[in-house]
Amino acid sequence: MPKKSVLDLYKMKESGEKACWITAYDAPTASLAEQAGIDMLLVGDSVGMCVYGYSGTNEMTMPIMLAHTAGVRRGAPKTFVIGDMPFLSYQISPEEAVRNAGAFIQQGGADAIKLEGGRRVTRQIRAISEAGVVVFGHIGLTPQSSGQLGGFKAQGLTADSAKEMIADAEAVQESGAMFLLVEAVAPEVTRIIRERLSIPVYGIGAGTHTDGELLIVSDVLGLFDAFKAKFVKRYADLAGTMREAFAAYREEVKNSTFPGPEHVYNMKPDEAEKLHAELAE
Ligand code: KIV
Repeated sequence: MPKKSVLDLYKMKESGEKACWITAYDAPTASLAEQAGIDMLLVGDSVGMCVYGYSGTNEMTMPIMLAHTAGVRRGAPKTFVIGDMPFLSYQISPEEAVRNAGAFIQQGGADAIKLEGGRRVTRQIRAISEAGVVVFGHIGLTPQSSGQLGGFKAQGLTADSAKEMIADAEAVQESGAMFLLVEAVAPEVTRIIRERLSIPVYGIGAGTHTDGELLIVSDVLGLFDAFKAKFVKRYADLAGTMREAFAAYREEVKNSTFPGPEHVYNMKPDEAEKLHAELAE
């Protein structure tokens, strides 16, 4: 299987084949996703919530994100990998944005970067794109600025906010982004955005009028059960499976049925005898 490129993603849009992507934070998960034919992996700053236990994403830093991105790349060498630019890695200046985007490519092995925001980050999108890096815009519910949005809330539900969102989408494309991700937005708005833009428009909680769907890996696997957003569909109950496995393991340790004879490295009988004899001397 050849490595996936932007050309493949554009061909998929042209032929009407939806792209399927999930987030991934580690090599084993990325490898399994690649084996299952997942098209793209986002090393999201949602790792802060799904792995590090924070209630948001703003604690994530460039070193943390680069380490996870490099792990995902090692696990999925053929899949299109997107590094998610963490809080304050691009907001301060276009120059810092270019340097940090470049680090995702050079040190993380990413194929592209994603950053949050519409009109307010167009200078950054333009600078990163002009440096030759593939940019994914991200509008709608943007977790890094969820404080300003009043929390993790659906966006574009009124005509006024929908118009703002459409203007943001157009500005993202105009600045050079090759892809757009729309999060937790009314499907009516996503549809208009997709009709107006020529670049692929992907959604997470944004309805079906998209060129592809993203879900958080911990949601897909039923691993993150602190809460469940309306747009999430769980395809497994790994939280339940893990709890059962931990309880079964604990039980077997407590009642001494683990480890069994099949789990130990025995000495050869003559070596054991020799040991006992020599110790008895
Ligand atoms: O960090 C992430 O996983 C994301 C998605 C929620 C879009 O940005």
